[in-house]
Amino acid sequence: MGKNKIEGALPRHIAIIMDGNGRWAKKRLMPRSVGHKHGVDRMEGLLDKSFEMGISYVTLYALSTENLKRPEAELEGLYDLIRKRFVDAMRKICKKGVRLRILGDVTMLPKDVQEILRQAEEETACYDGNGKGLNIALCYGARAEIVRAANIAAEKGEKLTEEGLSALLYTSDIPDPDLIIRTGGEMRLSNFLLYQAAYAELYFSAKMFPDFSDDDLEEAVAEFARRTRRFGKTDEQCNTEKRTGTGQ
Ligand code: IPE
Ligand code: IPE
Ligand code: MG
Repeated sequence: MGKNKIEGALPRHIAIIMDGNGRWAKKRLMPRSVGHKHGVDRMEGLLDKSFEMGISYVTLYALSTENLKRPEAELEGLYDLIRKRFVDAMRKICKKGVRLRILGDVTMLPKDVQEILRQAEEETACYDGNGKGLNIALCYGARAEIVRAANIAAEKGEKLTEEGLSALLYTSDIPDPDLIIRTGGEMRLSNFLLYQAAYAELYFSAKMFPDFSDDDLEEAVAEFARRTRRFGKTDEQCNTEKRTGTGQ
């Protein structure tokens, strides 16, 4: 462990909104694409750190459905980065027994990118049941995800319940995130995991994503461990449950 002492429960599932690559580059008078490259490097380091710390699931917001409205040149650069760097980085991490899942409507990506992502996912299918997952949200939008789920239910004539809807989301076999971290200084979810985030702890960092260090991640987790999650109950109820090992 680094300088942050973590006392208390670790989050089982961390989700990160990796924001600020463009501004990081702009500040250094460099093109946005350079910021995205540094972002992928940092992403790799943070994933290593997360699994090393004992986090079971990590979900990264890499590209939103709304990001698809960005200039074609930036998107082409991002697709090239997926081809040349991103997928290899994922493979390296997943070799340690981590199941890779892509969350989102990948049909919006170029065909060859879809194929390499599909292959990378398939290679890790053998790790199902290990209880360790890396999820990459690509061409992801939470509203679109919920609408898609509702339509699947409607086609089957199924009346939705909370569990039924969860089971139709991209995250069906992944526990809800306990901690959502957003870098880049903005304090919003930008259409990320809106349904799954119902009881997630939110942590906002002013640092641009390429500057978000392993120590910063530890600090976010330490802050999570200091918080009280009540899930609607009173402190007294939570304390009794903690003492007796009951409740959620
Ligand atoms: C996040 O960084 C990465 C993607 C959305 C692909 P941004 O590209 O949004 O960086 P800023 O917010 O413009 O600095
Ligand atoms: C959120 O960042 C999406 C990702 C990090 C992939 P944005 O940069 O797209 O968010 P907004 O537009 O500032 O809300
Ligand atoms: Mg941004």
